Amino acid sequence: MLVFEKKTDLEKHLTEQRKRGHTVGFVPTMGALHKGHISLIERSKAENDVTVCSIFVNPTQFNDKSDLEKYPRPIEADKALLEKTGCDVLFVPGEREIYPEGGETRDEGRGTKEGMGNTDMGIVGTTVQHLPADTQSQLRQTSLKSDNRYLQVQLGDLEKVMEGTRRPGHFEGVVQVVSKLFDIVSPDRAYFGQKDFQQQTIIKEMVRQLNYGIQIITCPIVREPDGLAMSSRNARLTPSERAVAGIISQTLFTIQKLAGKLSVDELTMLVESEIAEGSLTELEYFEIVDAGTLQPVLNLDKAESAVACIAVKVGQVRLIDNVILK
Ligand code: PAJ
Repeated sequence: MLVFEKKTDLEKHLTEQRKRGHTVGFVPTMGALHKGHISLIERSKAENDVTVCSIFVNPTQFNDKSDLEKYPRPIEADKALLEKTGCDVLFVPGEREIYPEGGETRDEGRGTKEGMGNTDMGIVGTTVQHLPADTQSQLRQTSLKSDNRYLQVQLGDLEKVMEGTRRPGHFEGVVQVVSKLFDIVSPDRAYFGQKDFQQQTIIKEMVRQLNYGIQIITCPIVREPDGLAMSSRNARLTPSERAVAGIISQTLFTIQKLAGKLSVDELTMLVESEIAEGSLTELEYFEIVDAGTLQPVLNLDKAESAVACIAVKVGQVRLIDNVILK
């Protein structure tokens, strides 16, 4: 496996690969790799000549500095796992490689994004709408020339639900880093997990708005034997928290079974009673949404698609999961 830290070195290597007619598959990650990540690498390997994985713990998508600091970084174990899986290329950029002007978390109390001025971060998506029209157009022109195309992305209602409302600025940071990584790697296909359902919907919308010719492939959720969705955060659960965490997926599977029989309100009440039972768990939200618009589904019979999404705090660890209902 080739390991690159500099984007120019990676770009040079991939240009060579493309000259030989090789297709490129890309799996962006934040490391602390588990079987969920590996399933994306395997899918990419099956569908492309070259598979690139990136590991970059992106500060701009965290709105809590301590969450960023606590994020696990077992780089040697990650490398060994990728090597074993047969990943061709690993990109591990330093922070300055991705954010030459600096990239920070979106901690509360850092002031409004507008107040931060025209920096590399903080003015993206919906925030642009709040700026004066001439500043907006100036920003857009500048961004066309630079690597800041993400500034043009308007997430609209897609980020006004679920994770978007609970983690302000999170998806702006995700769009920012993924567009920068897409510009460096220029893959034919990029692989994302259904685990982060809202994220993959938003990435598809970004690709549509920015006319990236990249196919986004969503891969199924890989689970532990008790059903818990694999996550880098699971390692932070204490043994007693880990023992109760299985309730999240088990509740979702029950919802999947009952979706044809109960109304959305009844399903929601069922989840509220199931999750409220454990003293270690706290339900943050349960929502049944349309897969494309992410807006709430009120009537399951009439809906074209429906995904049941949940966020639960188990002790100090916030976990998300989802199941597709139709
Ligand atoms: P990270 O949390 O490391 O996840 C990387 C990819 O692995 C995401 O597409 C995620 O949905 C997928 N994934 C995580 N757990 C999974 C599981 N149990 N089964 C299947 N796929 C799973 O998501 C991010 O990083 C970042 O936001 C990123 C896109 C890299 C941008 O920084």
